[in-house]
Amino acid sequence: MATAAASNAPAASFTRGLEGVVAGETEICSVEQGALIYRGYEIHDLAQHATFEDVAFLLLVGHRASKDELRFFKDELIANRALPNQVVEYLRAAGPMLKDGTAVPMDVLRTAVSILGNMDKDAQKIDAEANLRKAKRLTAKIPTVIGHMQNIIDGRDLVGQETGGDANLSHAGNLYYMMTGKKPSAQYERTIDVSLILYAEHDYNASTFASRVIAGTLSDMHGAVTGAIAALKGPLHGGANEAAMDMLSEIRRDIGPANDKAKIEAWMHKAFAEKRKLMGFGHRVYKNGDHRAPILHGLGRKIAEAQGAEQVALFEMGEIVQAQMLREKNIHPNVDFPCGMTYFVMGIPVPQYTPIFVASRITGWAAHVMEQHANNRLIRPVSVYTGPALKKWKDA
Ligand code: SDX
Repeated sequence: MATAAASNAPAASFTRGLEGVVAGETEICSVEQGALIYRGYEIHDLAQHATFEDVAFLLLVGHRASKDELRFFKDELIANRALPNQVVEYLRAAGPMLKDGTAVPMDVLRTAVSILGNMDKDAQKIDAEANLRKAKRLTAKIPTVIGHMQNIIDGRDLVGQETGGDANLSHAGNLYYMMTGKKPSAQYERTIDVSLILYAEHDYNASTFASRVIAGTLSDMHGAVTGAIAALKGPLHGGANEAAMDMLSEIRRDIGPANDKAKIEAWMHKAFAEKRKLMGFGHRVYKNGDHRAPILHGLGRKIAEAQGAEQVALFEMGEIVQAQMLREKNIHPNVDFPCGMTYFVMGIPVPQYTPIFVASRITGWAAHVMEQHANNRLIRPVSVYTGPALKKWKDA
């Protein structure tokens, strides 16, 4: 397509950030104002009746698992949880950078996935069977990377280094156990499990689209996932769950322990005046609310209520903030807002929130990589040139 400057044709129409642009078809997920659907199943149905393992199988394999398929799939994940020594050694070496903040867990997770790719015997293959094997190995190992990273930050022995954790724990339960060395309560385990279901897939979001662009060149699964992790880290995307909790902590520091509504509203007005983006709010597609947010908010609030006044006060502050955002800006919270509060009252360290998002979204990313490879066409849009008009080098 000729660029505008060269042909003096009117600039082609485009929308910044590809807003509203249909960039492809997918059988995996539908993100609409009315419903969020994974391969035909609505998110409230899945959050109420499914486990993350059910959803991971559905996304990766393409249908609801039979009892036998699910049992075999769970055993595969458990058998693949442990990490190769080279990755463990890298995580230990990354310890000082993690402790002094030079590297954050999302960076270290991204590198660990890259090293896993270097060591995966199927690394260079992109056929469906090899891709599915790699997707299962990454789904199994990413929680172990997160757990070991947290153990190293805490200066403690690695939990489950040889075994990848406790084979009797679910995927969600083992993730908590690997990070903390403690078995989660049934309530904690189910809350993490539902958060993983909610985070698993969301059609052509920025990180998934990045994974499809990489897969579209016929590059490999680990490369696509490494790129997707880099994209998800950003605070406008997955990094918002950490940034939302940081924002609430900032409000708490500024207004003190009591939820003085006038002080919170004044804090918000100052943020509006400074044109601050309030983390955990707004969405490129959802304009009437994120279907996932109320589900996680309800689960997190129940944990806060079981814990005590301070934790309930956090949720009440969040509810004052979101009511004001809706009233004054008509902007709803997205899933990252309740996620921050929920993981916080569960004692999960803030820098692990987005890595936990990765532990879930690996299933969505891998499903899209497999879909792209299965019916590929290079993803290469055009741009409108707005640079200098043509000139001769020798005239300079
Ligand atoms: C995720 O895409 C997905 O599906 C992503 C995700 C997934 O599951 O993969 O759902 C996960 O990434 C959720 C989003 C997490 N990000 C945040 O919470 C960061 C804060 N949110 C904003 O930066 C923003 O809402 C975006 C980036 C999420 C979406 O922004 P858009 O569609 O580009 O909209 P915009 O920035 O153009 O905002 C439109 C207007 C602007 O006002 P004006 O400049 O026109 O006056 O709304 C305002 C914005 O200033 N606005 C906000 C705001 N979000 C939008 N103002 C204050 N705080 C906000 N959070």
